[in-house]
Amino acid sequence: MSIEILPDADALALRAADLLALAAQEAAAARGRFAVALSGGETPRALYRMIARQQFSQKIPWRRVQLYWGDERCVPPDDPASNYGMARDAFIKHVPIADANVHRVLGEQPPAQAALAYEKELRALAALERPTSELPVFDLVLLGLGGDGHTASLFPHSDALAVEERFAVATQAPDGSPRISVTYPVINAARRVWFLVSGAKKAGMVAEVMEGLMVPAAVPAQGVRPVHGQLTWLLDEAAAAELDPAVRG
Ligand code: 6PG
Repeated sequence: MSIEILPDADALALRAADLLALAAQEAAAARGRFAVALSGGETPRALYRMIARQQFSQKIPWRRVQLYWGDERCVPPDDPASNYGMARDAFIKHVPIADANVHRVLGEQPPAQAALAYEKELRALAALERPTSELPVFDLVLLGLGGDGHTASLFPHSDALAVEERFAVATQAPDGSPRISVTYPVINAARRVWFLVSGAKKAGMVAEVMEGLMVPAAVPAQGVRPVHGQLTWLLDEAAAAELDPAVRG
């Protein structure tokens, strides 16, 4: 695991955009595609806007990029809560990526149906892997961190945390709102997993995930342990403020 701490949210977005462009170039050169699972919520918006800027967009091999989501709210794509809708407005509509390369979760469908359809998308991605893989192998899974320790839509004490045989499940946020989330096996099969966390409000939970008792049922972000891939925490100083100096490095 590695930790990068940037001075502020803008520097964090800039660094993450730089790393994402490098990861995309490496994956496209090595395997002909860059399969990335995007995270939702507010934090990644600044990153998504950054990669739409010419200084980064021109470095990203968009023809080779395959966009997926780590989770989605069960709402139509034009709903303000839609993770796809946020990414579309922040960068997708501003970059030369083909519609066929955008594998959104069908949030407008009934959750069980949307989960099944997304499972099929993920199984199709798994089938592209050489040598063959049971699991879809993302080149990058982007994750955020909720104040309660959730990530993607894997919430504390949720049944979704124990799912091993499915790649995508219908679940719920604590407020009961329906969500679709990838499961731990998918996240932990990725070549790279990045937590992108910004702001003082998350500092306590960042320290809890990294330094607290290991209780993934209560702190689902602790269940993110890539089997072969590289886990990286990209933090701004505010989010890193409660980390032990020894952990900060
Ligand atoms: C979502 C996300 C979720 C998010 C965290 C942090 O759909 O909301 O996937 O896991 O990353 O809740 O959200 P913020 O970046 O808005 O704090």
